Amino acid sequence: MALRFDILTTFPEMFGTEPPAALAVSIPGRARKAGLVEWHATDIRVFADNKHKKTDDRPFGGGPGMVMMCQPLWDAVLAAEALDPRPARRVLLTPQGRRLDQPMVEELAQSERLLLIAGHYEGIDERVVERLAPQEISIGDYVLSQGELAAMVLIDAVTRLVPGVLGDEGSAVADSFSPAGPDRKRLLDHPHYTRPAEWMGMPVPDVLLSGDHARVARWRLERALERTTQRRPDLLKPDLPAD
Ligand code: ADE
Repeated sequence: MALRFDILTTFPEMFGTEPPAALAVSIPGRARKAGLVEWHATDIRVFADNKHKKTDDRPFGGGPGMVMMCQPLWDAVLAAEALDPRPARRVLLTPQGRRLDQPMVEELAQSERLLLIAGHYEGIDERVVERLAPQEISIGDYVLSQGELAAMVLIDAVTRLVPGVLGDEGSAVADSFSPAGPDRKRLLDHPHYTRPAEWMGMPVPDVLLSGDHARVARWRLERALERTTQRRPDLLKPDLPAD
């Protein structure tokens, strides 16, 4: 059965299923057409039980920005969850969350159903966060104005790992951050080349034209290690022993 994403948003139109919508093209678009993933946006505003369909209000204690109110979000989550019998894993996209990385993406890809809450405001009333008890995830140490973009990043990264999405040729095993090398470290990817064999006087490394698969594999691993050492030495640090 397809992995189902439910997105709770005040901008449901961002999750269109026809191009040029961001997720409707490329790998997520093909995965959806093939029935491997599906996504449904639920408009939080529809659930606001006030006259003006307001979903946000001024913060108690003062200060800038607006805060998402409890009631519309709570009702929207319950309604979205009732759309399908499968239990949903609740995720809140927020800069306060744990920073997303490939092991987390691999773990999320094991789910049957993910419910993603995308915010737009200064924050969400803490009481509804407490009640919903979502896993809080950040996509990086910067602040977006549209939490939907963070939800899309997560959907794209998770979709790549759903079995059948990439096929053999584009296997995720070769991606950056996939375990590689003798000690299964998560390395950056090696450099890539395609035709022509020479461009602006710059040749492609000979080994890639040699047809010797073992040599090519060794060269790629060496380049991946070299890049990782130069650019992300933190990835090569020994794993901390488990408690
Ligand atoms: N919403 C705003 N900024 C965000 C971030 N960095 N990650 C996830 N959600 C966000």
